[in-house]
Amino acid sequence: MAELEMTRGLSALTDLVDDVQRYFMLELEGGIAAHRGRPESWAFVGMETAVALEQLEFALGCLGGMRSPLLVDCGAGLGFIGMLARGLGFRPVGIEISPRYVELAGKLLPWAGVAEGDVLEYGSYGEADVIFYYGPFKDEALQERFELKVERDAKPGAVIVANRKVSDAWRASPGFELLRDGGAGSWIFRKC
Ligand SMILES: C[S@@+](CC[C@H](N)C(=O)[O-])C[C@H]1O[C@@H](n2cnc3c(N)ncnc32)[C@H](O)[C@@H]1O
Repeated sequence: MAELEMTRGLSALTDLVDDVQRYFMLELEGGIAAHRGRPESWAFVGMETAVALEQLEFALGCLGGMRSPLLVDCGAGLGFIGMLARGLGFRPVGIEISPRYVELAGKLLPWAGVAEGDVLEYGSYGEADVIFYYGPFKDEALQERFELKVERDAKPGAVIVANRKVSDAWRASPGFELLRDGGAGSWIFRKC
C-alpha cells in the first residue's frame, strides 16, 4: 500500500517536471525545433523525466557503489538532467552551447552545474564516470563526430548513456560493453 502511494507520488512528480520542461520548450522555441541561427543543433527539448531518471539510476548501479560519481550532461539545456542526477548522488556538470539557456539554468537549477561550452570542443570527457546525452545534434554527421569523440575520450570504466545515438561502430568494438539496449536509439554501454 505504502509502495503504491510512493509510486503514485513519484509519477505525479515526474509528470510535473515534464510539464515544466514542456513549458520552457514552448516558451523558448515554440516547440521541438533547431536553434535559430544554428540549424545543426537541436534546441531545448527535455527528455521524459521518468525515462531519464531510470537511466540515471541504472548507470549509478553500474558503478559499484562509487561515491559522488561525476556525470557530464552533453547539451545540458536548462539543467534538468543535472538536477535529477544530483538528487541521486552524482556530481553533475552540464555543457551547453546557448548562453541564454546557461543563464536560465543558473537561475532555475543552479546545482545542475551547467556551463557554456561546445560538446565538440569539451576537453574533460576523460574525467567523467558517466557521460549522458540526448542528441544534441540535428545534423547526423555532426552527431556522429560528437559520439566518436566521446567514445575516444572517455576513460576505461566510464558509462555512456546515449539517447538519439546515430553511430554503432562501438558495437563491433571489443573496447565497449553493452549494458542495456533501451530501443529507439537509446543505449547504455561501458568503455572497457
Ligand atoms: C534535446 S536538448 C537536451 C537537453 C538535456 N540534455 C535533456 O536531456 O533534458 C539538446 C540540448 O543540446 C544543446 N546543444 C546543441 N548543440 C550543442 C553543442 N554543440 N554544444 C553544447 N550544447 C549543444 C541545445 O542547446 C539543447 O539545450
